[in-house]
Amino acid sequence: MVRPPATFATARLTARLPQVADAPAVFENYASDPEVTRYLSWRAYERVEPVTMFLRESIARWEKSEGHLMWLLCLKGTAAPIGSIGVTLEAGKVMFGYAFAKKFWGHGFATEALTFLVDWSLAQPSLFRAWAYCDVGNPASARVMEKAGMVREGVLRRWHVCPTLGPEARDCVVFARVK
Ligand SMILES: CC(C)(COP(=O)(O)OP(=O)(O)OC[C@H]1O[C@@H](n2cnc3c(N)ncnc32)[C@H](O)[C@@H]1OP(=O)(O)O)[C@@H](O)C(=O)NCCC(=O)NCCS
Repeated sequence: MVRPPATFATARLTARLPQVADAPAVFENYASDPEVTRYLSWRAYERVEPVTMFLRESIARWEKSEGHLMWLLCLKGTAAPIGSIGVTLEAGKVMFGYAFAKKFWGHGFATEALTFLVDWSLAQPSLFRAWAYCDVGNPASARVMEKAGMVREGVLRRWHVCPTLGPEARDCVVFARVK
């Protein structure tokens, strides 16, 4: 199985493994913001402790190299996470997820991080499909995927529950780059 790098850098960002000590900054900067989690599979956190548990689980997934492998993203030269990006690897393909603190939206950071990972993924001999999906109501995320060279493939109807918006599964748009 492919092993993603523990760290990587883009023009303006460094990506590194999460640490338990990141919990207060992750909570403060984006994980407590319902605008950030609006289209995500998790609801905004109201306390730091569950974020600590979530980071512990993320670290354990890296140790076992299984499930969703998540990096924290920091502006180069700083240590505080402004967002995260992650990959889920599965026989020949890789799926992405990402989120940034609201005050950093609109500066191309998501595109920068996603482009790196799409390029890295398709440079691996055993990976052929780099893909992700977003809610039909999340055009910013769709645009990020497009800018990372992914192509819109269609709509996955009733695909994903966004707990912030309610219990019903919602329609999603799927994008991919393949080789
Ligand atoms: C989606 C998200 C990651 C985008 O991050 P970002 O760093 O702002 O993205 P970028 O700056 O690289 O690109 C955003 C693009 O979307 C466009 N955009 C933003 N809002 C838009 C809207 N309402 N409609 C259409 N396009 C929009 C921007 O103009 C930009 O495109 P451009 O460069 O062609 O002008 C960020 O908004 C976020 O963290 N949202 C909350 C979490 C989330 O939804 N994650 C994705 C789950 S699938």
